[in-house]
Order: sequence, then C-alpha cells, then structure tokens
Amino acid sequence: MEFVMLSGAKHPAHEILRVAQDDSFAEPGCVRQGWYRIARSRALRGSKVRAVAIGPHRVVAYRDFNGQAHVTDDRCAHLGADLSRGAVTNDGLRCAFHGWCFGADGACTAAPGVSAIPKRRLLHHAVEERWGFVFAWLGSALPAFPLPGVPAEATVQMTLPPQRVRAHPDTVLSNGFDLAHLWPSHGIEATTIDVEEKPPWEISHHFEGRLSNRLRLSIGGIRRAPFEVTFTQYGGGLVFGYVTRPVEQTIVFTCTPDAEGHSRIHTMIFLPRRRDLVRALCLVWSTALDDIPLMETIAWTRGFSDADAVLERYVRFVAEMPQWRNG
Ligand code: FES
Ligand SMILES: [Fe+2]
Repeated sequence: MEFVMLSGAKHPAHEILRVAQDDSFAEPGCVRQGWYRIARSRALRGSKVRAVAIGPHRVVAYRDFNGQAHVTDDRCAHLGADLSRGAVTNDGLRCAFHGWCFGADGACTAAPGVSAIPKRRLLHHAVEERWGFVFAWLGSALPAFPLPGVPAEATVQMTLPPQRVRAHPDTVLSNGFDLAHLWPSHGIEATTIDVEEKPPWEISHHFEGRLSNRLRLSIGGIRRAPFEVTFTQYGGGLVFGYVTRPVEQTIVFTCTPDAEGHSRIHTMIFLPRRRDLVRALCLVWSTALDDIPLMETIAWTRGFSDADAVLERYVRFVAEMPQWRNG
C-alpha cells in the first residue's frame, strides 16, 4: 500500500496524506470476498428466479424442487442470456432463451435440439441457509472459511428491520473499530483491550468502557452501565459483535452492497435468555442510528491521528482483503 503526498506542504503531514490510486478501502465497485446475505429464505420459492445485485456484479438465486437454495452466475452458459428471466424446473434452472437447463451443481442437464448435452456449467456459489437467510460465498471456488456460527447457548433470535446506508460496506463495518468516534458520536467512553488479526479474513477489536447516559438506555436500566464487546469481521460482508456486559448477546451484522455500492444491512441479535431481550435491543438501538448521516458523507483520507490507531490498522487490514470479481 502506498501513500501519495498532495501539494500544499504548509499543512501538517497527517492532513496531506491521501489514499493512493491502488488502495481499495471503501472504493466504489470494490466487493471483498466473503459470505454475503443474498435473500430471505422465504423469498425463494416456486419457479421464480431472483436477480441480486452485489455491487457492480449480479447473481441469481432460486430454490430447486428438492428445497435446496442455489446462487449462481446470472448469465447463461450458452449465449449469455439473463437467467433471472428463466424458471425453476424438474431439470434445474431453465434459461428462457433456448431452454438449456442447469442442475444443482451448475452443470448443463438439458439442451433442446442439441445432439449431446453440452459440457457447460454455471458458476455455482457455495450456499448456507441460516437464521432465515440464504448466504453465499462470493470469492474463490471453495469457501476460504465456513460461515461463522453464534454461540450454542444463544438460542433466542431477533432480526431487526433492514437498513440501507448510502456508504460502502467497508465504511459501515469500520464503525466497530473506530474507537475515537464512540464518545463524540455515541457518548460512550471506551478503551481498547486488544486487536487481533488473522489475515486475510478476520480481524477483532476487543474493547470496554461505560455506556452513555442517554435516556433511551434507561428503558433497559443500562444507562452508564459498564460494557465489554469484541467486534470480529469475517471476510467482506459480515461482522459479529460478541457482547459480554451489560447483557450477554451476539449481534450479527450482514452488509451486502447494492448496485450503487451502498450497504444493505441486516442486524440479528442472539441471546441465551429471552428475558434480556429488551436490554439487548436497547443497547443496539442506543448506538445503531446515531452516526449513519455522518457515514454517508465520509470521503476517506489518511489523516489518522494517534487516537485512530485501531481504525488505521483496520483500514490497512481490510484494504488487503481479497476482492471478488465475478466470472
Ligand atoms: S442463452 Fe440460455 S439457452 Fe441459449
Ligand atoms: Fe458508531
């Protein structure tokens, strides 16, 4: 990674560093490899095929007649027709153009009028169905790591309404690594305990402190309460928040870029005890919305100060995370 010095040397050095041309952090069109939430499980049914934009790329998703969800390339392996106009049949996904069909592994299973079944196949992504959603690995042919799970004792799940933030997923997911914004943006006092990197896919930030004294926190009785959390990012579209205080919970954030490169966010809360649900929700609610308008305005510079040490480390780490280029 390189930095470029812009002109205007009268400014302090940290103010004149800018992201170099080859730096990918939060760059429009950059999609990092990882597990991405593609659709709600219940949205895949019948013979319909859904197109899903992933940044500048696109995949199609459908459920076969055996109930198995699939995510594949959106272009037919014959002549490139749009498979979202196709249909699910007994022979698999059928292209609307010449009727070629593709089975559960992406291989061509039928080609009307062709003398022998062509040895063509669709790019077929690994799929996991979890928590009411269909996830797909977007990257190398085989997943580099399994879709992470939540702790076995966290059996109570609540899924929050989806959010759309007009910012790149790198920007949205960096929030849990940006220690210095917690006080000005959220009224939270915090210090870092540890940062752990497992290149190129996983980075964790363990921190603790005291929640704000905002009124909305009094609903859960956790105003000014001590807290402790570890945010761990797994690949490009997934961050888990493992909260141990004031209420034990795991928060899963999935972040999938849309066609404009902006973020579609789904948040799930997992708890061992249902009676803690109000406090858990209160904690998420007290921080989730404060800084969205600010995130939507960031044009990243490299003006990090010493208070931004964890964030700077995060940015460097994520910029090295492999990108997904469809096809
Ligand atoms: S382009 Fe799909 S069957 Fe011909
Ligand atoms: Fe924040």
